[in-house]
Amino acid sequence: MLITFEGPDGSGKTTQLALLAEHLGQQGYLLFQVREPGGTPIGEQVRNVLHSMANQEMNPRAEVLLFSASRAQLIEQAILPALAEGKIVLCDRFYDSTFAYQGYGRGLDLEALRQLTQFATRGLCPDLTVYIEISPEEGLRRRRQDKSVEWNRLDDLPAVFHRRVHEGYQRLIAAEPDRWVVIDGERSIEAVQADVRAAVLARLPQS
Ligand code: ADP
Ligand code: TYD
Repeated sequence: MLITFEGPDGSGKTTQLALLAEHLGQQGYLLFQVREPGGTPIGEQVRNVLHSMANQEMNPRAEVLLFSASRAQLIEQAILPALAEGKIVLCDRFYDSTFAYQGYGRGLDLEALRQLTQFATRGLCPDLTVYIEISPEEGLRRRRQDKSVEWNRLDDLPAVFHRRVHEGYQRLIAAEPDRWVVIDGERSIEAVQADVRAAVLARLPQS
């Protein structure tokens, strides 16, 4: 089973995924946790290129190819082997981020992104996608406030970009409502986690 986490920057995905993994691990589920971009030695190098504040001149098409390169490597090297071993794979962002950020945010052609995604993933789709809903302004406020959280090139894009990403997510959810579960992220970490656990456990076989 492949479970992905999506949402605006600073919505709490990383926090919630870690808490969920701890809980599922205690319940005896075999897990594999990864993040995008990154998750493999090659992918982590690509992540550094994508995130570096020095790379302001990056072209959006180069950007989407780099995200896709990281994803293709992650799928072959990590996700498919983990799924074959029967593990539950928890992924912090996946291809929906490409549609939200490079498609709706940057304005790249959605059909071209579909073909690219199909190529990079070999058609692998999440079984469940947890969307942590928060206003983009609140998410970026949280990230700025916490000096231990990296501030990257994409965080630094203007507010209007992050608004388009947020609206893009609403369209992605509306197009495939059965795959997504939407959770209100503007509450305490514990309240959000209770809903995340309930949504995921409802879809898992008993351990
Ligand atoms: P993301 O992975 O979505 O960017 P993080 O989990 O890294 O989000 O959280 C971003 C920041 O917000 C961190 O400082 C984290 O401690 C804080 N945070 C996470 N969830 C909440 C919450 N429910 N309420 C307040 N702050 C939160
Ligand atoms: P990260 O620090 O992982 O952000 P967060 O903690 O909010 O998930 O940085 C990933 C950034 O890259 C984030 O701004 C979203 C963006 N991104 C894309 O633009 N396209 C993609 O395909 C992916 C996977 C991420």
